[in-house]
Amino acid sequence: MSNVSSLSSSSVKIGRLTVVGLGLIGGSFAKGLREAGVCGEVVGCDADPIARRLALPLGVADRVTADLAEAVQGADVIMLAVPVLAMERVLAELAQLDLGDAVLTDVGSTKDAVVKAVDKAFGGVPARFVPGHPIAGSEKSGVEAAKAGLFNHHKVILTPLENTSEEALQLVSSLWQQLGADVEHMPLADHDEVLAATSHLPHLLAFSLVDTLAARSQNLDIFRYAAGGFRDFTRIAASDPVMWRDVFIANREAVLRSLDAFTRDLSGLRQAIEAGDANTLLGVFTRAKSAREHFSTILARRAYMEPMQNQISNFIASPGAQVQGRIRVPGDKSISHRSIMLGSLAEGVTQVEGFLEGEDSLATLQAFRDMGVVIEGPHHGRVTINGVGLHGLKAPPGPLYVGNSGTSMRLLAGLLSGQSFDSVMMGDASLSKRPMGRVAKPLREMGAQIETGDDGRPPLHIKGGSPLTGMDYVMPMASAQVKSCLLLAGLYAAGSTSVVEPAPTRDHTERMLKGFGYPVRVEGAKVTIEPGHKLSACKIDVPADISSAAFFMVAASIAEGSDLTLEHVGINPTRVGVINILRAMGGDISLENQREVGGEPVADIRIRSARLKGIDIPVDQVPLAIDEFPVLFIAAACAEGRTILRGAEELRVKESDRIQVMADGLQTLGIKAEPTHDGIIIEGGQLQSGQVDSHGDHRIAMSFSVASLRASGDIRITDCANVATSFPGFVELASSVGIQVRLEETA
Ligand code: S3P
Repeated sequence: MSNVSSLSSSSVKIGRLTVVGLGLIGGSFAKGLREAGVCGEVVGCDADPIARRLALPLGVADRVTADLAEAVQGADVIMLAVPVLAMERVLAELAQLDLGDAVLTDVGSTKDAVVKAVDKAFGGVPARFVPGHPIAGSEKSGVEAAKAGLFNHHKVILTPLENTSEEALQLVSSLWQQLGADVEHMPLADHDEVLAATSHLPHLLAFSLVDTLAARSQNLDIFRYAAGGFRDFTRIAASDPVMWRDVFIANREAVLRSLDAFTRDLSGLRQAIEAGDANTLLGVFTRAKSAREHFSTILARRAYMEPMQNQISNFIASPGAQVQGRIRVPGDKSISHRSIMLGSLAEGVTQVEGFLEGEDSLATLQAFRDMGVVIEGPHHGRVTINGVGLHGLKAPPGPLYVGNSGTSMRLLAGLLSGQSFDSVMMGDASLSKRPMGRVAKPLREMGAQIETGDDGRPPLHIKGGSPLTGMDYVMPMASAQVKSCLLLAGLYAAGSTSVVEPAPTRDHTERMLKGFGYPVRVEGAKVTIEPGHKLSACKIDVPADISSAAFFMVAASIAEGSDLTLEHVGINPTRVGVINILRAMGGDISLENQREVGGEPVADIRIRSARLKGIDIPVDQVPLAIDEFPVLFIAAACAEGRTILRGAEELRVKESDRIQVMADGLQTLGIKAEPTHDGIIIEGGQLQSGQVDSHGDHRIAMSFSVASLRASGDIRITDCANVATSFPGFVELASSVGIQVRLEETA
C-alpha cells in the first residue's frame, strides 16, 4: 500500500485502483471512486472489447486493458468484479504475478466459494485479501448500466477472516464509505446463509415464474395483461443469467436449505387452497403483510416493533395559552394488551374496537402472531382475533421480541410458563434493565423453569412442558403485572392459584377473564383462578386510556381559561388516582355521561382550569395513579405550595427512574424538586425554559410537553421516539387543543 495516504478513514486516497471485470458492479465501483477523486488512476480490465471500449467515454476508468498483468501493475487496490465462477481462473492468474502490497478485494455474491478459490490459487488466503459483497445492484447489467451512485445508502457486507489485515480492512471499508455505502461486517457462513434466503431464493423464484408462464400456451396474453404484481415480482428475472448461474452453483448448500423451506411452505399453501382452509391462508398473509410493512426496522436489524432507537426525535414545546376542545385519546394500553392475549386463548373470533395501535400493544400482537394466532388488523383500532383456545398456541419461530413493553414481558411470562414449548423473550435497551425477578420468582415456585439474564433482568428463557401447581401468593409489591402474570399461569396450573395484593391494582385481567366467560373469584384483596374452564370469544370495546388522558387533564388544569372534554375515557376505580389527586389539589374535573362498556366503566371527562395547591398525596392513591405521576409532578410544579409524594418507589423501575428523571428535568426548569428514596418533594414555582432529557421514557416526554403551557420559554425535550409506544399521534392531538408541541426538525 505504497501510495495510500490516510487523512481520516472516510477520506483515504489511493494511487492506483484496478477493477477486474467491467460489469454493472465493477463499473459502478470504478466510476464512483473516480468521480469522488479517491484514486490517482483507475485502471479497468476486461476481456470483452466492447466493455473496454465503452468504459472510457462513460468515465468508468482512466485506462483499460485486457491484460491482467498490465492492469495490476503498481495497483494499491485490486477489485475483483467478475462472476463468481470466473474468479478461480482470474485468481490463478493473479497468483502468478507480483502484486506488491496491493490489497485484494471482491464483490462476489457468495463468499465461501470466493474464499476457497483464493485459498486454492494462493495456497492460503493472503492477509491482504478482504472478501466483500455490496447489497446493491439492478436487473440491468453491463458497464453501460454503471452508476457512480449505485452504492449510496446501500449496505456492503465485508466478511473478514481471522487473518485479514486490519489495515487492509480499513482501506476497503473506507473506499465503500466514500461511495456512500453503509459497511457492515458479518461472519462468512452467516453471509452465505442470509443471502441464500434474502437474495438468491427470490431471484430463483423470479426466473422460475417467468419461465413457467412464458412456456404456457397463452403466454402472450399473460404478459400483455400482467399488471403490477407480476411486474414487481419478476423485475429481477431480467438480471444477468451468467452471474446468477454462478451464484446458485457456488452457494449450493445454503440455497438448497432455503429452497427446501420455501417448497415446504408453498406446498402448505397449496394444501390450504385445495382444502378451502381460509384461516391458514389468512394467517400466512397477515404475518407476511406485517413483516413486509416493518421491513425497514427488520433490515436495520431491529426486531418487529422496536422503536427507532437510533432515530433522533426531540420535541420543542412552546408556552401556550388555553387548552380547548373535545378529543378522544387512544385506546387503553393495559386493556389492549389483554384483549390480544385473552382473544388468542379464546375459542372463536374476538372483535376488538378501539385497540391502541402503539408499539407496546403491537408488540403483544406480534408475539401472538409469532405463536400461530391469526390476527387481522389493526385497522382504525379494529382487530379480529381468530382464537386458538387455551392449548392452541404454537412454538414461535424465534425469540419473542417485545420492545419497550414491560406489560407484554411480564404477563407473557406467566402464559408461556404453561405452554408445552420453550420460548425466549427479549426487549429493547430500556426493558432489558427492568426487573423480571418479581415474576420469575413466584412462577418458579409454581414449578416453572425460567432463566433470566443477570440480576433478574431480561432476556427470559422459559422451558416448556414444566408442570405448574397453583399456589397462594402474597405479592410483596402492588403490581397488576405480577398479579396478571400469575393468573395467566394459573390457567395452566393444577389446583387453584390465588394472589393477594398489598393495595388495589388495576383489575383489567380479572374483568376481562370474566368477560370471556372464565370464572375468577375476587374476595377483598385476594383473586383466585382455577384451571379447567375455557374462554369464549367476545366483543371488546377498548375505552380511551386514562393514562394518556392524564396529560390533557393536567394541561387543561394548569393553563388558565381552559375547558376541555376527553371522550370515552376508562374510569375503572383502580385507575382513577389521577382524578382523585388532581381534585384534591383543587382541580375542576367532572365526569359526564358515565356508562359501562364491556365490563369497564367509562365517562367523558370535562376539565376546566383551576388554581392548584400542593398536597401530601395519600399513599393509597399511589397504585391507582402509578403511571400518571410524571405529569402529576408537572401539576405540582404549577401548584401553590409544596406537594409531597411517598410510598412510590416503584416509579424508580419504570421505563426510566421516573423520580430521578423528573426531578432532574424540573430542577433544570427552575423548580425545587427533591427526590427521596420512595417519592419526591416539589415546591410550586415558575417554570423556566430549558432542555430536559426524557431518557427514552414516553411519559416523561409527554409530561414536559404539557409543562410548556406554563413555562416562560421553549422547552426542548430530547429522546422522545418512544412516545409511539403508548400514544401514537400525541404531537398532533396535543397541538389540536392548544399545546404548542412539535417535532424538532432534524438537519
Ligand atoms: C400495567 C401495570 C402497571 C403499569 C403499567 C401497565 C398493566 O405496572 O405501570 O404501565 O397493564 O398491568 P405494575 O403492575 O408493575 O405496577
